[in-house]
Amino acid sequence: MIELSSEADTKRLARLLARELPPGTRVLLTGPMGAGKTTLVRHLARALGFEGRVTSPTYTLMHTYPTPAGPLVHVDVYRLPDPATLWELGLEDTLAEARLGLIEWGTPEAFAADLRLTLEPAGAEARRCRLEALNPELVPVVERVREGYRAGR
Ligand SMILES: Nc1ncnc2c1ncn2[C@@H]1O[C@H](COP(=O)(O)OP(=O)(O)OP(=O)(O)O)[C@@H](O)[C@H]1O
Ligand SMILES: [Mg+2]
Repeated sequence: MIELSSEADTKRLARLLARELPPGTRVLLTGPMGAGKTTLVRHLARALGFEGRVTSPTYTLMHTYPTPAGPLVHVDVYRLPDPATLWELGLEDTLAEARLGLIEWGTPEAFAADLRLTLEPAGAEARRCRLEALNPELVPVVERVREGYRAGR
Protein backbone atom coordinates (compact mmCIF):
# COMPACT_ATOMS: atom_id res chain seq x y z
CA MET A 1 0.00 0.00 0.00
CA ILE A 2 1.28 3.46 -0.89
CA GLU A 3 0.15 6.31 1.36
CA LEU A 4 -0.35 9.59 -0.50
CA SER A 5 -0.69 12.49 1.90
CA SER A 6 -1.47 15.16 -0.69
CA GLU A 7 -1.78 15.77 -4.40
CA ALA A 8 1.95 16.53 -4.44
CA ASP A 9 2.49 12.87 -3.48
CA THR A 10 0.16 11.78 -6.29
CA LYS A 11 2.33 13.82 -8.65
CA ARG A 12 5.47 12.13 -7.32
CA LEU A 13 3.88 8.71 -7.82
CA ALA A 14 2.90 9.70 -11.38
CA ARG A 15 6.51 10.62 -12.16
CA LEU A 16 7.72 7.25 -10.90
CA LEU A 17 5.08 5.43 -12.94
CA ALA A 18 5.99 7.44 -16.04
CA ARG A 19 9.61 6.43 -15.57
CA GLU A 20 9.08 2.74 -14.76
CA LEU A 21 6.07 1.53 -16.77
CA PRO A 22 7.18 0.01 -20.08
CA PRO A 23 5.69 1.23 -23.40
CA GLY A 24 2.26 -0.21 -24.08
CA THR A 25 1.41 -0.82 -20.40
CA ARG A 26 -2.35 -0.96 -19.83
CA VAL A 27 -3.51 0.24 -16.44
CA LEU A 28 -6.95 -0.10 -14.87
CA LEU A 29 -7.75 2.84 -12.59
CA THR A 30 -10.31 2.02 -9.93
CA GLY A 31 -11.63 3.67 -6.79
CA PRO A 32 -14.69 5.76 -5.92
CA MET A 33 -15.75 9.03 -7.55
CA GLY A 34 -13.43 11.86 -6.65
CA ALA A 35 -10.67 9.52 -5.51
CA GLY A 36 -8.25 11.13 -7.96
CA LYS A 37 -8.13 8.80 -10.98
CA THR A 38 -8.32 11.61 -13.55
CA THR A 39 -5.96 13.73 -11.46
CA LEU A 40 -3.38 10.96 -11.55
CA VAL A 41 -3.74 10.76 -15.35
CA ARG A 42 -3.16 14.54 -15.54
CA HIS A 43 0.08 14.19 -13.59
CA LEU A 44 1.12 11.22 -15.72
CA ALA A 45 0.55 13.22 -18.90
CA ARG A 46 2.65 16.07 -17.46
CA ALA A 47 5.37 13.63 -16.38
CA LEU A 48 5.49 12.28 -19.94
CA GLY A 49 5.86 15.79 -21.32
CA PHE A 50 2.33 16.68 -22.43
CA GLU A 51 1.72 20.33 -21.60
CA GLY A 52 -1.90 20.89 -22.66
CA ARG A 53 -5.14 20.44 -20.77
CA VAL A 54 -6.12 17.02 -19.44
CA THR A 55 -9.83 16.59 -18.77
CA SER A 56 -12.10 13.73 -17.81
CA PRO A 57 -13.27 11.60 -20.75
CA THR A 58 -16.45 10.61 -18.89
CA TYR A 59 -18.66 11.89 -21.75
CA THR A 60 -16.24 11.59 -24.65
CA LEU A 61 -15.11 8.07 -23.68
CA MET A 62 -11.51 8.48 -24.80
CA HIS A 63 -8.86 11.20 -24.91
CA THR A 64 -5.50 10.78 -26.57
CA TYR A 65 -2.64 13.06 -25.57
CA PRO A 66 0.52 13.20 -27.67
CA THR A 67 3.72 12.96 -25.64
CA PRO A 68 7.33 12.79 -26.87
CA ALA A 69 7.32 9.11 -25.85
CA GLY A 70 4.13 8.29 -27.79
CA PRO A 71 0.40 8.74 -27.18
CA LEU A 72 -1.15 8.52 -23.75
CA VAL A 73 -4.63 7.07 -24.11
CA HIS A 74 -7.16 7.77 -21.37
CA VAL A 75 -10.47 5.92 -21.40
CA ASP A 76 -13.37 6.28 -18.95
CA VAL A 77 -15.93 3.49 -19.18
CA TYR A 78 -18.08 4.66 -16.26
CA ARG A 79 -21.11 5.38 -18.45
CA LEU A 80 -20.77 2.39 -20.74
CA PRO A 81 -23.29 -0.38 -20.14
CA ASP A 82 -21.04 -2.95 -21.78
CA PRO A 83 -17.37 -1.87 -21.63
CA ALA A 84 -16.13 -5.10 -23.20
CA THR A 85 -17.57 -3.95 -26.56
CA LEU A 86 -14.93 -1.24 -26.63
CA TRP A 87 -12.21 -3.87 -26.56
CA GLU A 88 -13.86 -5.73 -29.44
CA LEU A 89 -14.21 -2.47 -31.43
CA GLY A 90 -10.44 -1.99 -31.55
CA LEU A 91 -9.36 -0.48 -28.26
CA GLU A 92 -6.83 -3.27 -27.91
CA ASP A 93 -5.02 -2.15 -31.11
CA THR A 94 -5.13 1.52 -30.06
CA LEU A 95 -3.59 0.68 -26.70
CA ALA A 96 -0.91 -1.52 -28.26
CA GLU A 97 0.50 1.57 -30.00
CA ALA A 98 0.24 3.82 -26.97
CA ARG A 99 2.97 4.86 -24.56
CA LEU A 100 0.45 4.16 -21.80
CA GLY A 101 -3.21 3.15 -21.74
CA LEU A 102 -5.28 4.18 -18.73
CA ILE A 103 -8.78 2.84 -18.24
CA GLU A 104 -10.91 4.45 -15.55
CA TRP A 105 -13.54 2.16 -14.06
CA GLY A 106 -12.21 -0.78 -16.08
CA THR A 107 -12.40 -4.32 -14.76
CA PRO A 108 -10.00 -7.20 -15.46
CA GLU A 109 -12.94 -9.18 -16.89
CA ALA A 110 -13.55 -6.62 -19.66
CA PHE A 111 -9.96 -5.49 -20.35
CA ALA A 112 -6.72 -7.42 -20.66
CA ALA A 113 -4.66 -5.07 -18.51
CA ASP A 114 -1.17 -5.26 -17.04
CA LEU A 115 -1.72 -3.36 -13.86
CA ARG A 116 -4.52 -2.31 -11.55
CA LEU A 117 -4.17 0.89 -9.55
CA THR A 118 -6.77 1.52 -6.86
CA LEU A 119 -7.16 4.88 -5.10
CA GLU A 120 -9.11 5.15 -1.86
CA PRO A 121 -9.82 8.44 -0.09
CA ALA A 122 -8.27 8.58 3.37
CA GLY A 123 -8.87 12.24 4.27
CA ALA A 124 -9.27 15.57 2.51
CA GLU A 125 -6.10 15.16 0.44
CA ALA A 126 -4.91 11.80 1.71
CA ARG A 127 -5.30 8.75 -0.51
CA ARG A 128 -4.34 5.12 -0.24
CA CYS A 129 -3.00 3.61 -3.43
CA ARG A 130 -2.83 -0.09 -4.17
CA LEU A 131 -0.78 -1.35 -7.13
CA GLU A 132 -1.43 -4.86 -8.40
CA ALA A 133 0.45 -6.47 -11.27
CA LEU A 134 -2.10 -8.41 -13.34
CA ASN A 135 0.64 -9.37 -15.75
CA PRO A 136 3.51 -11.21 -13.98
CA GLU A 137 6.07 -9.27 -16.05
CA LEU A 138 5.03 -6.15 -14.17
CA VAL A 139 5.82 -7.55 -10.71
CA PRO A 140 9.41 -6.17 -10.61
CA VAL A 141 8.21 -2.87 -12.06
CA VAL A 142 5.63 -2.48 -9.29
CA GLU A 143 8.35 -3.27 -6.74
CA ARG A 144 10.60 -0.55 -8.21
CA VAL A 145 7.77 1.98 -8.05
CA ARG A 146 7.05 1.11 -4.40
CA GLU A 147 10.74 1.30 -3.50
CA GLY A 148 11.21 4.56 -5.36
CA TYR A 149 8.23 6.03 -3.58
CA ARG A 150 9.48 4.88 -0.17
CA ALA A 151 12.90 6.32 -0.93
CA GLY A 152 11.30 9.69 -1.65
CA ARG A 153 12.13 9.72 -5.38
N1 LIG B 1 -3.84 13.15 -3.07
C1 LIG B 1 -4.66 13.46 -4.09
N2 LIG B 1 -4.58 12.79 -5.25
C2 LIG B 1 -5.43 13.07 -6.27
N3 LIG B 1 -6.41 14.00 -6.22
C3 LIG B 1 -6.53 14.70 -5.08
C4 LIG B 1 -5.67 14.45 -3.98
N4 LIG B 1 -6.04 15.29 -2.98
C5 LIG B 1 -7.05 16.01 -3.43
N5 LIG B 1 -7.37 15.67 -4.70
C6 LIG B 1 -8.48 16.29 -5.46
O1 LIG B 1 -9.50 15.32 -5.55
C7 LIG B 1 -10.20 15.48 -6.79
C8 LIG B 1 -10.17 14.17 -7.57
O2 LIG B 1 -10.99 14.29 -8.71
P1 LIG B 1 -10.82 13.34 -9.97
O3 LIG B 1 -11.69 13.90 -11.03
O4 LIG B 1 -9.38 13.16 -10.26
O5 LIG B 1 -11.43 11.99 -9.40
P2 LIG B 1 -11.85 10.67 -10.19
O6 LIG B 1 -11.40 9.53 -9.36
O7 LIG B 1 -11.36 10.75 -11.60
O8 LIG B 1 -13.44 10.76 -10.15
P3 LIG B 1 -14.54 10.17 -11.18
O9 LIG B 1 -14.75 8.73 -10.79
O10 LIG B 1 -15.75 11.00 -10.91
O11 LIG B 1 -14.01 10.32 -12.58
C9 LIG B 1 -9.52 16.62 -7.53
O12 LIG B 1 -10.23 17.81 -7.29
C10 LIG B 1 -8.13 16.68 -6.89
O13 LIG B 1 -7.56 17.96 -6.93
MG1 LIG C 1 -12.31 10.65 -13.44
